[in-house]
Amino acid sequence: MPGSTPLPVALSLLLATAGFLPPPGAAQNEPRINASDEVTIRPSAIPIILQCNLTTNPSPLQSSFWMKNGEEIPGTRKNTNTTEYKITKARAEESGEYLCVFTFASSPVANISIEVKAAPEIIGHKRSENKNEGQEAVLYCKSVGFPHPEWTWRKRINDVLEDINNSSGRFFITNKENYTELSIINLDITEDPGEYQCNATNQAGTSAVITILRVRSHLAPLWPFLGILAEIIILVVIIVVYEKRKRPDEVPDDDEPAGPMKTNSTNNHKDKNLRQRNTN
Ligand SMILES: *[C@@H]1O[C@H](CO)[C@@H](O)[C@H](O)[C@H]1NC(C)=O
Ligand SMILES: *[C@@H]1O[C@H](CO)[C@@H](O)[C@H](O)[C@H]1NC(C)=O
Ligand SMILES: *[C@@H]1O[C@H](CO)[C@@H](O)[C@H](O)[C@H]1NC(C)=O
Ligand SMILES: *[C@@H]1O[C@H](CO)[C@@H](O)[C@H](O)[C@H]1NC(C)=O
Ligand SMILES: *[C@@H]1O[C@H](CO)[C@@H](O)[C@H](O)[C@H]1NC(C)=O
Ligand SMILES: *[C@@H]1O[C@H](CO)[C@@H](O)[C@H](O)[C@H]1NC(C)=O
Ligand SMILES: *[C@@H]1O[C@H](CO)[C@@H](O)[C@H](O)[C@H]1NC(C)=O
Ligand SMILES: *[C@@H]1O[C@H](CO)[C@@H](O)[C@H](O)[C@H]1NC(C)=O
Repeated sequence: MPGSTPLPVALSLLLATAGFLPPPGAAQNEPRINASDEVTIRPSAIPIILQCNLTTNPSPLQSSFWMKNGEEIPGTRKNTNTTEYKITKARAEESGEYLCVFTFASSPVANISIEVKAAPEIIGHKRSENKNEGQEAVLYCKSVGFPHPEWTWRKRINDVLEDINNSSGRFFITNKENYTELSIINLDITEDPGEYQCNATNQAGTSAVITILRVRSHLAPLWPFLGILAEIIILVVIIVVYEKRKRPDEVPDDDEPAGPMKTNSTNNHKDKNLRQRNTN
């Protein structure tokens, strides 16, 4: 189509005006809102002020308020045709999709969205994970920042971060908007230990953190028990050896039938004496 607007420009124009173009044949007094442009939060930036001005009312204004990521921001309800929202602490947590909403006495709500972008910041991950071979390891990262990042996992091999080699089919990645999870099943003690990196990247920037995975032999949890067992075995061996060396001397004693009888008879005497004393 020669002479037509290049597609990206046409698309952005369409996106910018889509909500506010009156449908064909509609009344001219559709709501029109002048809003701040999208902003990107930079570290140590000054406060950010978002503005929306209603420039055409279809019917008397009822109220205006602000929403962030689909939820109303408490304390922002007013009934003025210009409204502001001030982000005092410009941090990545404050990024998101903001919406100013105007409601009217007798016409549908009107709104416009303002994207407040920020580079991802990884706010949660495990520094290290210790598992036994054959078990499953679950590594995760959690971010703030908008738009939600693209997540990637890599492993450090010979000081180079490489994409996960899934030739064994034991690696599973689950990505949510601001969360990613890498699970490795049936852990291998030679292949799997090492440094794993999760990388979060969006249009505003990138960040990455490392989790160290250690894999122990599956005998590891048995070691204290095996130690005790070994001690017992050694003790038993020592006793048996000692007893065997002692035995030749003891044989005559054991075979002597008089021994126990003698003691029995003396005991009997004692018993008799006791009984006699008791009767006295
Ligand atoms: C925002 O406006 C759109 C139409 O442009 C409407 O479909 C949507 O429900 C409105 N959202 C809110 C939260 O008012
Ligand atoms: C809306 O804002 C633009 C620039 O931001 C300005 O040129 C225009 O006059 C404004 N419209 C109204 C009705 O205030
Ligand atoms: C909204 O109106 C105020 C004055 O009432 C003006 O200073 C501000 O620039 C306007 N904002 C936009 C986004 O048009
Ligand atoms: C906005 O409100 C002011 C005063 O409250 C009024 O003068 C102005 O006409 C209003 N503008 C629109 C577009 O309703
Ligand atoms: C992550 O996203 C979910 C859903 O989008 C949201 O409920 C949650 O608050 C977000 N968490 C953070 C830390 O941004
Ligand atoms: C993945 O690992 C297997 C052996 O575990 C190896 O044969 C293969 O070359 C590796 N693939 C890549 C792309 O490194
Ligand atoms: C790894 O391979 C398994 C089995 O082929 C597959 O189900 C899984 O989605 C793969 N994981 C990744 C991260 O590609
Ligand atoms: C994350 O991955 C992207 C794409 O490979 C790369 O450009 C970026 O430098 C990485 N981020 C960090 C913090 O390493």
